[in-house]
Amino acid sequence: MTVDNYAVAASGWAGGAELVYRPVARELLALAPHSLAGRTVLDIGAGTGAASTALAELGAQTLAVDLSHPMLSWHAADRPPAAVGDVTRLPVQTNTVDDAVAAFVFNHLRDPAAGIAEAMRVVRPAGALLASAYSNDSRSEVRDALDDAARSHGWTPPDWYAELKQHATPLLGTANRMRRVAAGCGLIDVAVGERPVEVGVTTAQQLVDYRLGQAQFAPWLRRLGPDEAVEARNRLIESIAPIMTPYRPIVVFLAALVPPAR
Ligand SMILES: C[S@@+](CC[C@H](N)C(=O)[O-])C[C@H]1O[C@@H](n2cnc3c(N)ncnc32)[C@H](O)[C@@H]1O
Repeated sequence: MTVDNYAVAASGWAGGAELVYRPVARELLALAPHSLAGRTVLDIGAGTGAASTALAELGAQTLAVDLSHPMLSWHAADRPPAAVGDVTRLPVQTNTVDDAVAAFVFNHLRDPAAGIAEAMRVVRPAGALLASAYSNDSRSEVRDALDDAARSHGWTPPDWYAELKQHATPLLGTANRMRRVAAGCGLIDVAVGERPVEVGVTTAQQLVDYRLGQAQFAPWLRRLGPDEAVEARNRLIESIAPIMTPYRPIVVFLAALVPPAR
């Protein structure tokens, strides 16, 4: 059975983590090899809709898939049509969407090629696949200090998160690795970049809200309860404020085409 590690993360993700994920989604879509306006684009691993929102801004018709029903249900009435499903077994027929976006989801897989191949199955010939993953070089002293401060207040990284960081995320964490996996799957016109992104997270409050909004913190915050969670947030802000610098995650971007005839 597949476990939903994002089951209690939706409100924190939408209200905090998206401070980073929304601007990165816009940068990813800007790499599309053709205009996405009017096209049907599948948002794979859509979460609470960071990329779906950016797609709507560009005039695309979006469909969303995610393993996590609670993530997809967040403000569902204002969101595109959605279905729960695994990125390696998409609940979508072959050759039925014009393009696909996979923002920070292939990096959850021990076999990222399986996710890319499945995305290629559902995208029509000559459609685009856009994907993002964190670079293995994406480090931040202030973010590490924040995690240390959270540990000293009782947070421990969940096992799934430690495993993800150790075994899955690094597989697409360099431009070369992303390029090799994408080309190995048969994508063409493969363009890969690895660069810091100006996400506009410049204050300690924003960094804490982004970080605590991520799924690895959600069960801990829930256990603390609302009052203690607010207190923990304030203490984390205080502890990193003196060393705060703008947060610029380094992201590996992929933009490629599914071959025209298969
Ligand atoms: C890092 S979040 C990114 C969410 C969104 N794309 C964004 O940029 O804000 C990863 C998302 O992928 C989903 N996910 C993780 N593994 C998945 C899988 N095997 N199949 C489908 N979705 C998955 C999670 O539930 C979560 O919503």
